[in-house]
Amino acid sequence: MALPAAIDPTRAPPEERPRAGLVAAEHGADLALVERAAEGCHACDLWARATQVVFGEGPVPARLMFVGEQPGDREDRAGKPFVGPAGGIFSKALGEAGIDRETVFVTNVVKHFKWRPAPGSKRRLHERPNKAEVGACLPWVEAELRLVRPEGLVLLGATATEALLGWGVSVTRDRGQQLESDLAPYVVATVHPSSILRAGPRREAAYDAFVADLRAVAELIA
Ligand code: URA
Repeated sequence: MALPAAIDPTRAPPEERPRAGLVAAEHGADLALVERAAEGCHACDLWARATQVVFGEGPVPARLMFVGEQPGDREDRAGKPFVGPAGGIFSKALGEAGIDRETVFVTNVVKHFKWRPAPGSKRRLHERPNKAEVGACLPWVEAELRLVRPEGLVLLGATATEALLGWGVSVTRDRGQQLESDLAPYVVATVHPSSILRAGPRREAAYDAFVADLRAVAELIA
C-alpha cells in the first residue's frame, strides 16, 4: 500500500521528522521508510556530531523488544544498536536466558550518539542525553513500538525506563517485575548492560541478576 505523499515522513521538515515518522507508522508505513525519515532528523542537535542515525534492528513484528539509552561509539560507527562492549554482555546474557537475539527487536530511546572528547585523546566519551533530547527523539521509539507490537517490552536502564514509563518506576526497586503499562502486554525494566561492565568486584553477581531478569521475561511470554 503506497503512503499518501502528505504523510510521507521523508518529506517532512528535518525538525519535525519524529512526529511525522510516528504518524506514518500509524498509517501503514514500514520500518524501512520510518528509518529513512530518521536519517534526516534534526529535531535536536545531536545529529550534527554523530556519524549516523542508529535505528532499531530485528524482525517486525517481534515478540520481544529491548530498549536501551543511546548508541555508543561502536554503534555510531556501525549504524547498529548494541554491537559494542555493552552489546557483547547483552547478547551473552540473552543466550544464557534462552533468548535468541536474532528473534528480538533491539533499539534505543535516543537515535544519535551524544559524546564529548576525552581530554588529550581522540576517544569519544559517552554523555547522557538530556530531557529535551530524549523528548525530541521519543516519537521514533513510539513508532517502532507501533510497528513491532511486542508482547514483551524490556527497558534497559533508567533513561529508557523514565522515558517510556515516567518517574514512578525505579529500576533498582522494580527490576525484573511485570510493570503496569499500555505499551505492551508485558513490560519489564532491568539494568542497562553497561552497568555490569562498571560493577567492579560485583560484576559476576550483577551479570547473574541481569540473566535472571531476562529469564523472567522469557517465562512471562512463553
Ligand atoms: N548502550 C545503549 O544504550 N545502546 C546501545 O546501542 C549501545 C550502548
